[in-house]
Amino acid sequence: MAIPTPHIEVKEPDIIAETVLLPGDPLRAKFIAENFLEDVKQFNAIRNVLGYTGTYKGKRISVMGTGMGMPSIGIYSYELIHFYGVKNLIRIGSAGAIQPHLNLYDLVISMSASTNSNYLHQYDLPGTFAPTASFNLLNKAVKVAEKKGYTYHVGNILSSDTFYEDNPDAWKKWAKMGVLCIEMEAAALYANAARAGVNALAILTISDSLVTHELTTANERQTAFTKMMEVALELA
Ligand code: HPA
Repeated sequence: MAIPTPHIEVKEPDIIAETVLLPGDPLRAKFIAENFLEDVKQFNAIRNVLGYTGTYKGKRISVMGTGMGMPSIGIYSYELIHFYGVKNLIRIGSAGAIQPHLNLYDLVISMSASTNSNYLHQYDLPGTFAPTASFNLLNKAVKVAEKKGYTYHVGNILSSDTFYEDNPDAWKKWAKMGVLCIEMEAAALYANAARAGVNALAILTISDSLVTHELTTANERQTAFTKMMEVALELA
């Protein structure tokens, strides 16, 4: 396959930077491009999955939406890695806490991503693969969060295929294993990156708690998400 690929309509070769921030929501990609980047160029709008490249503190960085769920981030991250030469893929997103010590707006830097998805089945491995973050990106993200004084947790998360689960208590089994929170994309991103020998990391903001049933409002999320974006942008 050559560029442009089915889901990313790049016209200029090399317009996508080696480091790409990946929010689920394409409008969040637009927000980041408009509020944090300089010299911005849009490179994608297929399916309204907006993608932009610009500079942050003089370093080139791209930002593109991924949509929700592992099939969606699986497609976009595969094309970015295999056809556009992307080396560092940093998901920024929200997650539901499943541990009582995680509060709304806390950051979770995902060391590993357990999953209930069949995504890893494609590799036909003779055992269970552990989708893992790039240590280098994770180490840098921890140092930035530390320096900025943000509350963060590092550990295992769950990438789930379901937001509305038939068994409302299913998360409790993952909680017993020390899993921190639930989102829906990181395991596929980590697997794609591992298979291709590139770097991935997911930085999440707690937007709700399955333990306490607390929820954030849209306005509150905006400020909290800014912290996560600031950490991610420093990884360029
Ligand atoms: N489940 C899955 N994904 C999520 C959640 C959740 O509770 N909260 C934010 N993203």
